Amino acid sequence: MRNAEITGWGKCLPPAVLSNSDLETVVDTSDEWITTRTGIKERRIAHVEVSDMAVVAGRRALAAAGLEPDQIDLIILATCTPDTQIPAGAAHVQAKLGATNAAAFDLNAACSGFIYGLVTGTNMIRAGSNEKVLLIGAEKLRYVTDYSDRTTCVLFGDGAGAVVLEATDNGAGLLSSELGIDGTTAGILCVPGGGTAGDPGTTPPNELGVRMEGPEVFRRAVTMMGDASARVVDQAGLTLDDVDILVPHQANVRIIDATARRLGLPPEKVFINIQSYGNTSAATIPIALTEAVEAGRIGPGANIVLAAFGGGLTWAAGVVKWGDRTEPLAETEAALAPTDATALELIRPNLDFFGRTSTEPGP
Ligand SMILES: CC(C)(COP(=O)(O)OP(=O)(O)OC[C@H]1O[C@@H](n2cnc3c(N)ncnc32)[C@H](O)[C@@H]1OP(=O)(O)O)[C@@H](O)C(=O)NCCC(=O)NCCS
Repeated sequence: MRNAEITGWGKCLPPAVLSNSDLETVVDTSDEWITTRTGIKERRIAHVEVSDMAVVAGRRALAAAGLEPDQIDLIILATCTPDTQIPAGAAHVQAKLGATNAAAFDLNAACSGFIYGLVTGTNMIRAGSNEKVLLIGAEKLRYVTDYSDRTTCVLFGDGAGAVVLEATDNGAGLLSSELGIDGTTAGILCVPGGGTAGDPGTTPPNELGVRMEGPEVFRRAVTMMGDASARVVDQAGLTLDDVDILVPHQANVRIIDATARRLGLPPEKVFINIQSYGNTSAATIPIALTEAVEAGRIGPGANIVLAAFGGGLTWAAGVVKWGDRTEPLAETEAALAPTDATALELIRPNLDFFGRTSTEPGP
């Protein structure tokens, strides 16, 4: 059966590191609290736009697949923080990549966006509409992060990851999947403003940052990710013994541990990198997938379970069979423009902006 194999993979993390001890200087928190409650030690802060990180991750994935940008016929950018609303963030990515033969669109399913994109891209290829798809998850969450709110700001970071999907009939690719949403619970994890609700200029700054009922999101995430993962394993006709690795959305190490326990998977079959990057929303899974391949944790023919949840509330899970190749065909020099800015300097505009409570100009 025609399917879509992951033939390339790549990531891009901006260089500025925001450590837990940096956060101790801006908000009432501690390294000990953040580490024990979330598993996060540090996260990256972007000095560039989402499209810049997406393009570097995309170039690396294309090189790994041995492809040039003009060979791609579709770009899917999974993001909830595009450079612009009009045009879609994918337009900037297409232009900067020089992907002259590609269609391109954004897909916003928040932190579940990469798996939503994987299902979409796979089905475009299965249907025969496309041959080579570049799927990117990229976020600049610092834009919507209020660094004076300790209940959210410790969680989020910036970054991008990408995969190339190519038509194949060799048995590799997505074996099963489940996508879901419960829009009635949207208010427990959201950015209330920034869309077209209301009239222009009426949104106070504090409605442009992430709002979250953490414990409620936590409770639902554990159930959603665990149950959906178990269902896709079953749907793929596999048993848990057949699962080689779980590559989950990285939101909280305790959520990941609970999902693994629900599946009955031992720690050595779970990939975790949240300590280094925090929650980068749609970018966490492609970044983690790239690092898992690079670390030799994904071998030829591996059965990989992907699982995520996020704003919406969305959830998504899938089983992917890896192909034969775990080495990139080529590498690229592509990199972000250098910067001397520190993470604390980069988040300063957010502290000034979210400190204001009305739409009046700041001091
Ligand atoms: C946010 C989260 C880490 C909070 O952990 P928790 O164990 O649920 O903690 P609670 O919210 O119950 O807060 C416990 C206490 O810690 C405090 N606290 C919250 N954030 C803190 C921080 N950064 N530093 C220190 N204390 C903090 C709270 O104020 C509360 O204090 P109180 O008991 O005096 O009222 C956790 O709920 C979570 O990860 N939820 C899911 C969030 C998520 O994944 N979002 C993205 C989805 S894609």
